[in-house]
Amino acid sequence: MIITLRIGHRKERDKRISTHIGLMSRAFLADKIIYSGENDESLISSVNKVSKSWGGGFSAEYSKNHIKTINEYKSKGFKIFHLTMYGLPINDKLKEIKKEKNILVIVGGEKVPREIYELSDYNISITNQPHSEVGALAIFLDRINDGKELSEEIKGLKKRIKPTSKGKEYYK
Ligand SMILES: C[S@@+](CC[C@H](N)C(=O)[O-])C[C@H]1O[C@@H](n2cnc3c(N)ncnc32)[C@H](O)[C@@H]1O
Repeated sequence: MIITLRIGHRKERDKRISTHIGLMSRAFLADKIIYSGENDESLISSVNKVSKSWGGGFSAEYSKNHIKTINEYKSKGFKIFHLTMYGLPINDKLKEIKKEKNILVIVGGEKVPREIYELSDYNISITNQPHSEVGALAIFLDRINDGKELSEEIKGLKKRIKPTSKGKEYYK
């Protein structure tokens, strides 16, 4: 099981990027996203709305206390991965990451508290340059999935696009 934890969400400034983190997680075969920071019901409902209309088992929820959430998943046997430009290069740790069945991957916001670095089993970088939570998460999920999100469909889809060279088609 793969869960994304997005910490430090700000209602006004991060609405769009936090939505993209959720949709990205779903498209790249994660099972759930947990948001913490400011409680934003419209964010949770918009991600859940997409999941409901397109199908599959993905869901979004809010956590008031991300430290408690991390410890909860740790005690359930999840390994905790925190994405940060300061961490160890993904290629150096990929073999170890791929052995894990249950993964909680943390993506930060503007400033990530020191505690997150300490609580995480691995601090992982996707290059050592600053870029984006969506970009970092995409590469992380793609690498641990061996790229299978590009060829395998999410299970239980209700709506399926029929790929075409031009135009927009759906399977009936
Ligand atoms: C606006 S960035 C802040 C950059 C932050 N100073 C850092 O430690 O990576 C927000 C989030 O994007 C992710 N991120 C950005 N660049 C990254 C990189 N090169 N490797 C891994 N994650 C990155 C991290 O999860 C970070 O908390």
